[in-house]
Amino acid sequence: IRSVDMSDPATQALQPRLLQAQSSGSAGSGAAAAGSGTGNSDPVRPGLSQQQRASQKKAQVRAFPRAKKLEKLGVFSACKASDTCKCNGWKNPNPPSATRIDLQQQAASLSEPCRSCGHALADHVSHLENVSEDEINRLLGMVVDVENLFMSVHKEEDTDTKQVYFYLFKLLRKCILQMSQPVVEGSLGSPPFEKPNIEQVIQSLLQYKFSHLAPKERQTMFELSKMFLICLNYWKLETPTQYRQRTQKDDATAYKLDYTRWLCYCHVPQSNDSLPRYETTQVFGRNLLKSIFTVTRRQLLEKFRVEKDKLLPEKRTLILTHFPKFLSMLEEEIYGENSPIWEADFTMPASESTQIGHQTAVISPTSASGSPALSKCLNSSSSLGSTDTGGVEPITGDKRKLPEALTLEDAKRIRVMGDIPMELVNEVMMTITDPAAMLGPETNLLTPNAARDETARLEERRGIIEFHVIGNSLSQKSNKKILMWLVGLQNVFSHQLPRMPKEYITRLVFDPKHKTLALIKDGRVIGGICFRMFPTQGFTEIVFCAVTSNEQVKKGYGTHLMNHLKEYHIKHNILYFLTYADEYAIGYFKKQGFSKDIKVPKGRYLGYIKDYEGATLMECELNPRIPYTELSHIIKRQKEIIKKLIERKQSQIRKVYPGLTCFKEGVRQIPVESIPGIRETGWKPSSKDKGKEVKDPDVLYNMLKNLLAQIK
Ligand code: ACO
Repeated sequence: IRSVDMSDPATQALQPRLLQAQSSGSAGSGAAAAGSGTGNSDPVRPGLSQQQRASQKKAQVRAFPRAKKLEKLGVFSACKASDTCKCNGWKNPNPPSATRIDLQQQAASLSEPCRSCGHALADHVSHLENVSEDEINRLLGMVVDVENLFMSVHKEEDTDTKQVYFYLFKLLRKCILQMSQPVVEGSLGSPPFEKPNIEQVIQSLLQYKFSHLAPKERQTMFELSKMFLICLNYWKLETPTQYRQRTQKDDATAYKLDYTRWLCYCHVPQSNDSLPRYETTQVFGRNLLKSIFTVTRRQLLEKFRVEKDKLLPEKRTLILTHFPKFLSMLEEEIYGENSPIWEADFTMPASESTQIGHQTAVISPTSASGSPALSKCLNSSSSLGSTDTGGVEPITGDKRKLPEALTLEDAKRIRVMGDIPMELVNEVMMTITDPAAMLGPETNLLTPNAARDETARLEERRGIIEFHVIGNSLSQKSNKKILMWLVGLQNVFSHQLPRMPKEYITRLVFDPKHKTLALIKDGRVIGGICFRMFPTQGFTEIVFCAVTSNEQVKKGYGTHLMNHLKEYHIKHNILYFLTYADEYAIGYFKKQGFSKDIKVPKGRYLGYIKDYEGATLMECELNPRIPYTELSHIIKRQKEIIKKLIERKQSQIRKVYPGLTCFKEGVRQIPVESIPGIRETGWKPSSKDKGKEVKDPDVLYNMLKNLLAQIK
């Protein structure tokens, strides 16, 4: 990079304009002009102004008369006067002054000799004689992009970035010379670089965390996720040097590779449309997100805070209140080891309003766009789900297509054997979440099948109860509220566990190695679970668990406490609970998924867990894919969906057959398919069952008994 070839005629031809841009204070449309999201006219999409300037410039140049177009291209075209002439570009013998601009200049005549090789301009542009106007215009677009890259190379201070700009500069120069299409070559690989991509993962997050919410809340989450994706696509990443300094990591090689890919395929092409362009969120995945999330989040929130007056009032709450929460939730999934949303085969039925991928693809504006997409999203009072793309030109051609592999994968997801068509699920989802289509309120606590933790979950949502993991600390002064809650917990445990010495409870509750999940109502402790984590042993010991007597059994507090504890542990990557349960609490623990069969090897817990006489050791294995605090709600929804689907199917089959009478007549068994009407329901005899002999009841009994034992 230090040896930019200044003797190159094209490079020299660029000099006056560089000076001009610098002296007039205009940054040109170089990609390098984009700051880290700061100091630009559009705070959220730093690339936009460069993009606009570049496209204006291209429109200007493309409107030139043919002679002037040829002169411009001649500067980047090899001399063809003789085989021996090595001149790579026509050099104007009367170079334009820095103050004159292209528009006012007369086109040089074709006979004008080159200042470098002495051959005429015509010798440099002879290859363009029969070339179509479209191709000439494409080449001119590259010329403008080369000029901009040239300025970027000069102005950029970061060495890594400068190198990439220079590489792209040379690449486009070569393509103009050879009239070819630019292809970034080398060891960067080709997009997509990661799977699943960020967009798919955000979609999974929506489904994983929010698909059970009411439509309005779901819409909010959808808007936030879309906003996040747009931000990411227009955000300028920190340079590898900045990354190294911030993270103190000596080896930032992986980040540098991603940064280079991002520059070549995503960032520079935003203002330089000669290069194929990809969206950051469609070609990168978890690795890049891990590297950039912390810093991007900080910058984004800061930006919104500073610019809050520019936001529409109705979007202000969304951005200032909900966006930080959304980002924190996303952060947990990015850095948490067990998050299922990163698995390539993550599937959950998608509901209509959570389909974000394709919409983000079309709302990315091109250079012609007047208003930035994000500001539009933030400031439009209409729902984001129907973002108006009017005046926003989707980027055309292959560049915008999702890579084929992803489309295929998506298709595969939908075609799971026996799966119900997504449209049908969506339709049913609409009826079960639309209050008008339902009888009575959505959550009817009086129904006999209301989930055990329904009340607790609702109370938490309404702010009536709260859950906090607290503990005593020796290194820092605990605040008064925490100490009061610890005393409260100690009281609840001693009342509810009368056989435990009070001093013993106090010692453990206040022991810094133990933590307690506290259930707070009206500022007071009404329950809790005291536990000790053994990360090296891969389990957590549940030491005390209690809810005050007047709040027990009817409200599901005990269940909701345990579910919160499960989620807390999934986040901390511990997937086993062990506890010595009191005789009379075994029933409760069983209902929370505990069993007396212990899978954790003895060697891992002996000597770690406290042993209690007369108590039973129980274990609970956690499944990191289950959102426990919402599980019963989700299952309820699934049951409702299935019920509706069955009803639909039934309504399609009108005929009612009389019941079977053969059993009354002494027949012991009949083939299933002989039941009238059964085939109309779509039932088919399974090929596995065909020709199988009916099992001897004793053999069957033993087989099932054996199976049951194994399941246990
Ligand atoms: N035995 C059998 N089943 C029980 C018991 C029990 N002692 N306690 C609750 N359950 C059942 C409930 O009936 C309910 O089942 P259902 O929905 O089918 O009716 C289910 O367990 C969960 O009930 P919740 O309302 O969610 O739980 P609750 O708020 O009552 O809290 C708890 C349960 C913490 C056990 C509470 O009853 C309590 O404080 N008990 C006294 C203290 C105690 O025994 N703690 C456990 C000691 S062992 C240890 O700490 C390691």
